[in-house]
Amino acid sequence: MIVAENLAKEFKVHERKPGLLGSLSTLFSREYRLVRAVSGVSFEIPAGVKAAYVGANGAGKSTTVKMLTGIMSPTSGRAVVAGLEPYRERRRNSANIGVVFGQRSQLWWDLPVPDSFRILRRIHEIPDAVYRRNMDLYRDLLDLGALGNTPVRQLSLGQRMRAEVAASLLHDPKVVFLDEPTIGLDLVLKEAVRELVNRVNAELGTTVMLTSHDMGDISAICDQVLVVNRGEVVHRGTMHELLRTADTRAVFFEHRQQPEHQVGHGSTDRATALIEAHLDGASATLVDGGRIKVEYPADRWSARQVMGFLLEHFDVTDCVAPEPDLEMVLRRIYTGSGNGPSAGMRETAA
Ligand SMILES: Nc1ncnc2c1ncn2[C@@H]1O[C@H](COP(=O)(O)OP(=O)(O)O)[C@@H](O)[C@H]1O
Ligand SMILES: [Mg+2]
Repeated sequence: MIVAENLAKEFKVHERKPGLLGSLSTLFSREYRLVRAVSGVSFEIPAGVKAAYVGANGAGKSTTVKMLTGIMSPTSGRAVVAGLEPYRERRRNSANIGVVFGQRSQLWWDLPVPDSFRILRRIHEIPDAVYRRNMDLYRDLLDLGALGNTPVRQLSLGQRMRAEVAASLLHDPKVVFLDEPTIGLDLVLKEAVRELVNRVNAELGTTVMLTSHDMGDISAICDQVLVVNRGEVVHRGTMHELLRTADTRAVFFEHRQQPEHQVGHGSTDRATALIEAHLDGASATLVDGGRIKVEYPADRWSARQVMGFLLEHFDVTDCVAPEPDLEMVLRRIYTGSGNGPSAGMRETAA
């Protein structure tokens, strides 16, 4: 449904010289620097999939979304969305897609939300039944009625984002692009947006491409994750597969201590020392109220081995092996450790 082939975008940025004369000379100067915002990304998002497009700040996510939605043309390469090259056929393309940019409004700034919706209804020629069904859904989930007749410019960020998300989905688009859609929303609203997106995907098969810094959004919405770094897709797979690339895993446990060890930290020290001595490369720390966190290298130990060891040596009362932290996994990818563009794409089978 979404295809990017060696999609690249360069911006010409004029070198600015300091001071007023500098600014004037910038106007006439032909000197510029090329910023390679997106350097040849290729990926495919099949119909009905909810994909996260994840990368550090400045990785080129928004620029990619702008090319996929037809707002910008690529410098080279090609994009096809629902059978169209978006930047060549902007009008036809707009019937197929919905867009939310957290950073910038798609709504009419001076109009109240209901008026914006009426205009969109006209533009997209939305059938009555579809319009009514969608308005009912948004009223339930996003409490849009509460926005009243206030012009968009006077809404809070949270109120505006609710309206943006609803507006992007009003015409039942085949594809929806959500660029940081929950920015500025509180948890309850974030959850409402997540539920709305998931519901629309489940009921209508809408393809979703989401960029977000919110790990909660990504986990709650997406079934595929594309990780971009320095303008290239360096990982793609399911969330589970991405998490499995974590080099460090953790197990948390609590244990009943021997009576003579109950006073002071002595027994905890003994416990952590025992773990570190037996599990090569692991580190054990007391986290809170007697809970001990065991971090271990995933290439040397399995969760089963670590838990087996703990059960054997301690009177374990509670033990959990949480999923690896997505943020940690991503940080490792961004900061290199052999996963830079030159190392090629790490791909895990779907
Ligand atoms: N209109 C523009 N002119 C010049 N540089 C830009 C422009 N838009 C984006 N960039 C630069 O391109 C890079 C990628 O930006 P962006 O796509 O917004 O990244 P992301 O959304 O991943 O944070 C950044 O270095 C940014 O400064
Ligand atoms: Mg961005």
